[in-house]
Amino acid sequence: MTDKKATLAVEGLDANIELPTYKGTMGPDVIDVRGLTAKGYFTYDPGFVSTASCESKITFIDGGKGQLLHRGYPIDQLAENSDYLETCYLLLHGELPSEAEYKEFVDIITTHTMVHESISRFFRGFHHDSHPMAMMCGIVGALSAFYHDSLDITNPRHRIISAHRLIAKMPTLAAMCYKHSQGQPFMYPDNNLGYAENFLHMMFGTPCSDPKVSPVLARAMDKIFLLHADHEQNASTSTVRLAGSSGANPFACIASGIATLWGPAHGGANEAVLKMLEEIGDVSNIDAYVAKAKDKNDPFRLMGFGHRVYKNFDPRAKVMKGTCDEVLAELGLENDPLLAIAKRLEQIALEDPYFIEKKLYPNVDFYSGIIMKAIGIPTDMFTVIFATGRTVGWIAHWHEMLGESVKIGRPRQLYTGATPRDYTDRAGRPAASVDTF
Ligand code: SDX
Repeated sequence: MTDKKATLAVEGLDANIELPTYKGTMGPDVIDVRGLTAKGYFTYDPGFVSTASCESKITFIDGGKGQLLHRGYPIDQLAENSDYLETCYLLLHGELPSEAEYKEFVDIITTHTMVHESISRFFRGFHHDSHPMAMMCGIVGALSAFYHDSLDITNPRHRIISAHRLIAKMPTLAAMCYKHSQGQPFMYPDNNLGYAENFLHMMFGTPCSDPKVSPVLARAMDKIFLLHADHEQNASTSTVRLAGSSGANPFACIASGIATLWGPAHGGANEAVLKMLEEIGDVSNIDAYVAKAKDKNDPFRLMGFGHRVYKNFDPRAKVMKGTCDEVLAELGLENDPLLAIAKRLEQIALEDPYFIEKKLYPNVDFYSGIIMKAIGIPTDMFTVIFATGRTVGWIAHWHEMLGESVKIGRPRQLYTGATPRDYTDRAGRPAASVDTF
């Protein structure tokens, strides 16, 4: 609470409405509008552009400065010096682990990488061409059928066990989705491998040949997981918090996050970026697509550009661009035609008055797809990779929320529908004449 008050003068009200304000450690102060209901008002903020839905200590974003902190640590420092599992520990527990704590955490995650053997039977119900995000929504939600021993969400120990299980098993399930689509046998995790290395082993190894994973590709994969780990109250994290506020079990909550992330405006953008680059096909076509993106009457948007919060560069995109160059050099793909289109597109967008005025910069999804394609990951697996990395962020916010007194999330509305009217018998009723699309 601050000693600053917000005073709201509303025409027709005898007295002004006084509202408390709160100050965080960083970022804008907030106005507590809960008192408005008693005065007969709701706030109105479609898309929650100006709404702080909760208090949190996990991640801070300053869109104007292109700043992203996880528990106070800048994302570029974590990407340079840390790894995904250490960042998971930081997001979950609030501090960087000691050497011993880090080793214990890695050991715990490593020993939870296998999934119940029955899970493999779930995949038989999916056609081979099922979208892997459809499979992940279903299978992650179904995990709650296997873990009755840790579903008491009021028990912090149960919450942390569920967190460990989800962080550990997401790569295994993601790789199973890919193997199912390829008609290849599932590969078991190898507990001698690192987290990202193990994932690439499960993706591309087979019982007949299991080549050593390139350390450069394993490091790039780990960095992709790290850069996607958390991002404040984005759409999917807000969904997980809302689902968790009803008391739903952690697996159901994470499945709701996966479903939300799937949209092309959110985590589905990396898949959409690749499709867009392939549709553009050649740098000579870029101007026509940029014109489409600027045309108000054309729904086409440059996928991988723009962000609700970053009105300056997305710090993750900067790191991802460097990783992209490293991976393509490692694979001898520096002249990848899609990369040429992406780099030219970025250059045009950064110079074009439309994009400058609307503050549209490349976001985290712009380069990640090119890296994943170069590694050999199919486009429809990109959002599954995003979901795998983001699972720790979802579960950290879920755990943080349940550590406090939780009210079920239940927004209100501005109602503009029909006023009360009486039912009429169908006989003789006039045609409804409405769109029944
Ligand atoms: C992620 O929230 C998070 O933190 C998400 C995320 C995370 O880590 O969780 O960072 C991950 O989702 C990144 C964003 C991935 N999505 C895309 O790349 C899809 C393309 N981008 C857009 O759809 C859009 O930029 C959003 C959805 C990302 C942001 O939309 P906003 O904040 O609601 O902004 P807006 O739609 O109101 O756009 C503002 C203006 C509009 O023009 P006007 O109506 O003011 O004339 O900018 C235009 C838009 O038309 N615009 C674009 C554009 N994005 C916005 N024009 C062309 N191409 C684009 N990509």
